[in-house]
Amino acid sequence: MPIYHSLGKIPPKRHTQFEKPEGGLYYEQLFGTIGFDGMSSLLYHIHRPTQIRQIDSPLDLAPKIAVEKNITPRKLIGFDIGPKADFLEAREPLMVNTDIHIGLAAPTGSLTDYFYKNADADELLFIHRGSGILKTFLGDIPFEYGDYLIIPRGMIYQIHFDGPDNRILYAESFHPIHTPKRYRNWFGQLGEHAPYCERDYKLPRALAPIDQKGDFLIKIKKQGMLHHLVYATHPFDVVGWDGYNYPYGFSIHNFEPITGRIHQPPPVHQTFETSAFVVCSFCPRLYDYHPKAIPAPYNHSNIDSDEMLYYVDGDFMSRTNVAAGHISLHPAGIPHGPHPGTYEGSIGKRGTDELAVMIDTFRPLMLTEKALGIDDGRYFSSWL
Ligand SMILES: [Fe+2]
Repeated sequence: MPIYHSLGKIPPKRHTQFEKPEGGLYYEQLFGTIGFDGMSSLLYHIHRPTQIRQIDSPLDLAPKIAVEKNITPRKLIGFDIGPKADFLEAREPLMVNTDIHIGLAAPTGSLTDYFYKNADADELLFIHRGSGILKTFLGDIPFEYGDYLIIPRGMIYQIHFDGPDNRILYAESFHPIHTPKRYRNWFGQLGEHAPYCERDYKLPRALAPIDQKGDFLIKIKKQGMLHHLVYATHPFDVVGWDGYNYPYGFSIHNFEPITGRIHQPPPVHQTFETSAFVVCSFCPRLYDYHPKAIPAPYNHSNIDSDEMLYYVDGDFMSRTNVAAGHISLHPAGIPHGPHPGTYEGSIGKRGTDELAVMIDTFRPLMLTEKALGIDDGRYFSSWL
């Protein structure tokens, strides 16, 4: 996250004595990524963040793979994923590889009686339905429909929903998620050509440190296992921090589409990148304005990347029979393109109200048993 941010109280000089008003010292923690080379923040705790009281047996969360090698275009009916009360149990991994796990969740309850940390992966939560507050040890981020929440690995968090009707597309990325490098200048600032700017970020606010001793369960995801560690102090005891490593939000509705006289390629929709996949936002926009323009995309060969498209809202211009919550998967190795009629049908149209999130992975995705359970089974032949 290449913006410096600071919350709460911090000492004027790093790595120096920072005294509590009642006496004693705050405990400094360097929270870094990629060894000491990546983004990092310096945190100041009321208590030492290392006080483990108990370690209980872990739970195996490894996804159950049904199709390891896939060449079938598929349509998954995402809203067929049933709601569950618990935030973690509600998560259903659908498409996975060694770089990313993509899934859907419909949690009905807030995560309040334990804390969660993903030690393996940066998490991307796309809020399709519902609103609430992401509560982290680095501050709160209110969220609503259309928000991406980027939670770097290791962030301890809870999530509070305003109601029971919540739908989330999530990705666990085993590579850091960041903004595309080509959007940023040599100094890291987002350029005028980027489809969003720093002002659009939802940064953590309202840091409210809790000074409490007791039993605090943190469920930690590591190497596919969910470990259960009980700590002796409340994990949200950070009185202040500064740096570049923290969770943040970004609304898809703040993505400013880049349009042209003729069809613009998918990279203009890019929102985030990693070394193993990209995330794109397809947003309502005006169509191409060349007098002979064909707004629908040409057939294209994603010969070496799998394309997952999650339909959020509106009428998706190049597809028939897709609805909110559907997922299309176009695997590497074969071309794909607009459905019959949509290519010609797009001519002369002024704009689109489509809203969708695309994840293109550079390595093939495997499908889980759960994914096959919501697969419509006929999609591959829908261009005949
Ligand atoms: Fe495509």
